[in-house]
Amino acid sequence: MKVAPSVLSADFGNLQRDVEAICDAGCDLVHIDVMDGHFVPNLTIGPVVVSSIAKCATKPLDIHLMVQNNTFFVELFAPLKPKYISFHIEEEKHPHRLIQKIRSLGIKPAIVLNPHTPPESIEYLIQELDMILLMSVNPGFGGQSFIDSVIPKATKLNEMKNKINPKCLIEVDGGVNDKNIQQLKDVGVDIVVAGSYVFKHKSKEEAIKSLQI
Ligand code: DX5
Ligand code: ZN
Repeated sequence: MKVAPSVLSADFGNLQRDVEAICDAGCDLVHIDVMDGHFVPNLTIGPVVVSSIAKCATKPLDIHLMVQNNTFFVELFAPLKPKYISFHIEEEKHPHRLIQKIRSLGIKPAIVLNPHTPPESIEYLIQELDMILLMSVNPGFGGQSFIDSVIPKATKLNEMKNKINPKCLIEVDGGVNDKNIQQLKDVGVDIVVAGSYVFKHKSKEEAIKSLQI
């Protein structure tokens, strides 16, 4: 299991210190939550701050867009060369076109599904994707409780993607901790995002290791 700590739970007054700490603690990716105050009722960071994160991160960036105008934001963040950019299917009229655009910029495309969005909604896109991100909380805030229905959903998605594109990874985001990590592993999840669990733990290294099962 790979681990992507969410910078949303970092201390933004000490961002460099916290980004270096999670990278030194052995994380696999650095998860960046971009919120525009429209798609979700919260506002986070833009390319100026993310470029500072990119300079001190020694692990690849995993950018999670929670925004209304996906194409605009993809163009803003592409020069920072993240490994992944993921966008919400609920907010995109032309997902196939956007996937191609992200790939043409040298970035791995991923789609995010909110807790209510069925895996079948992206059946004809799976072939084109490097990763699918399942939300296990409603997007917008860190520190929420894990929604258990993501477990049967990940099981279903894993079966679907193994038939269509077995290389496509499954990532889960929200409320992940040492209590639910085994269940996620058992249903074929490849990467977990963890914000409050990693940043509130007395040892970031211990927290990350406890998820890398
Ligand atoms: C929620 C974000 C998550 C969040 C995870 O909208 O996408 O990445 O920061 O935080 P925790 O692990 O605290 O639920
Ligand atoms: Zn996220």
